[in-house]
Amino acid sequence: MNPLTVPVVDASHASASHASPPFEAIGGEAAVTRIVDAFYRQMDTRPDARGIRAMHGPDLAPVKAVLVRYLCEWLGGPKRYSEERGHPRLRMRHAAFPIGAAERDAWLACMRAALDETGTDAALRDKLMLAFFKIADWMRNNGN
Ligand code: HEM
Repeated sequence: MNPLTVPVVDASHASASHASPPFEAIGGEAAVTRIVDAFYRQMDTRPDARGIRAMHGPDLAPVKAVLVRYLCEWLGGPKRYSEERGHPRLRMRHAAFPIGAAERDAWLACMRAALDETGTDAALRDKLMLAFFKIADWMRNNGN
């Protein structure tokens, strides 16, 4: 499965009142950047994220920039991630890190807090969290 194809919104979205793609609904690249900043700040400070924080290098700036590009593309915005890094192959790119239910849940807790902190619309937040759950759960690779 290509995670970029995980539907962020259901099919009714296009014909319902929210006609814009999620990238625009969320507030474009500026909003995605704020969310990613908040996400890694959460990861840096939450006790339940200590394990996944330790999987990252000391400087989060490079991975922040990559995640911004990935999420912009995933939300229907500019395709800079693919242009620069090719097919996401996220499961393969995460294979070096032991990811189980605890790591998945810690990642999701950071993202949920980041979406709340940045004031993301609650309905959109819930759709995104469902889609993030599917990707994060599919990333599990150590049997728990
Ligand atoms: C399930 C728990 C997860 C853990 C523990 C985890 C951990 C990591 C780590 C350690 C890296 C490498 C950082 C570095 O290069 O220093 C990384 C990269 C990345 N992660 Fe995750 N991640 C998780 C879930 C996710 C999810 C759900 C997404 C997408 C929605 C995601 C998107 C990315 C992207 C786009 C990169 C950069 C890939 C690249 O190099 O092109 N991750 N992640």
